[in-house]
Amino acid sequence: MAKIPVIIDCDPGHDDMMALVLAYGSGKLDIRAVTTVAGNNTIENTTRNALNILHYIGADEVPVAMGYQDPIVRKHKDVIARLLASRRQQMSEEEERQQEKIQGAGVHGVSGMDGFAFPPDNPKRVEPLHSVEMMAKVLRESEEKVTIIPTGPLTNVGLLIRLYPELLPKIERISMMGGTSEFVLSRPYMEFNTAVDPEATKLVFESGVPITMFGYDVTYRVLYGRDTIVQMRALGNHAGTMVADLLEYFMEAHNSMAKRLQLDGVAPVHDACAVAGVIDPSLVTKSKRLRVDVETGGTYFDGATVCDYTGALGWPPNAEVVYNMDNERFLRLLVEAAGRCL
Ligand code: BDR
Ligand code: CA
Repeated sequence: MAKIPVIIDCDPGHDDMMALVLAYGSGKLDIRAVTTVAGNNTIENTTRNALNILHYIGADEVPVAMGYQDPIVRKHKDVIARLLASRRQQMSEEEERQQEKIQGAGVHGVSGMDGFAFPPDNPKRVEPLHSVEMMAKVLRESEEKVTIIPTGPLTNVGLLIRLYPELLPKIERISMMGGTSEFVLSRPYMEFNTAVDPEATKLVFESGVPITMFGYDVTYRVLYGRDTIVQMRALGNHAGTMVADLLEYFMEAHNSMAKRLQLDGVAPVHDACAVAGVIDPSLVTKSKRLRVDVETGGTYFDGATVCDYTGALGWPPNAEVVYNMDNERFLRLLVEAAGRCL
């Protein structure tokens, strides 16, 4: 069967790493480009992490382009400070000290992907094109429609939509990790990716492009445990070892830093869900077509995805919001994919 052409726009990130390994190792996707954005960390760090992952798993042929540091109208560091301010009261002194060093989502550590030491001297280089230009090029040159999988803030994708409206018909679907409809344990009404760039998120939801939203509703339901880490390590290849180390770190970070989530011995791999849904849509066991609008001018909830769950507003739905997936089959897919990488 022909591979599905995709662009992955990401900010690695432990779960972005899992998304890349799944996409590459599945053998089902034709990854035309990996584009980076700041989010979990600075653009320099997320781009370096993407290059390291791809080289280490043997995916050197996948081009990587570097995108935006700052959201469309805001500053990355201001947004992160705003998101953290609401957390400060819950932090221990040690957590606060650690957080000072991190320029992004705390669970990913100082490098944006702590927990695995890649070999130095990675020969893989970034392409001489901006992420947005790279996406436009891929879409323009593709004979088939291309699926875009954003797993970070939507800055690049929002600007692609704004700058190249003539290319929208070339986008098959946006399968994004972001947003939340019901799940409020992490942040009230907000998910990190949509909160970092609310204006870009709004452009995406108003674009008319088909959207599948893998938000916290599903990504905090579909969890991995220690058994998955053991299976990954047992693969004995580069990908298995890297994934095992990084998922171990990620679980520890969730279990200790994000105590309010009450995760014990399990953790989410948010971004991999958005990739899995493209590889095998039958993994989705519950979803709903909804109208999703984005808060951009609020006091507390900028970036909130306002999902009209009952259709009360009467506006046409613009997204398929996913609520559940087959956890067991999802985890099996992850391990099999890592097993097919270097
Ligand atoms: C999202 O935020 C990031 O920390 C993760 O990589 C994921 O994309 C989850 O809210
Ligand atoms: Ca991410």
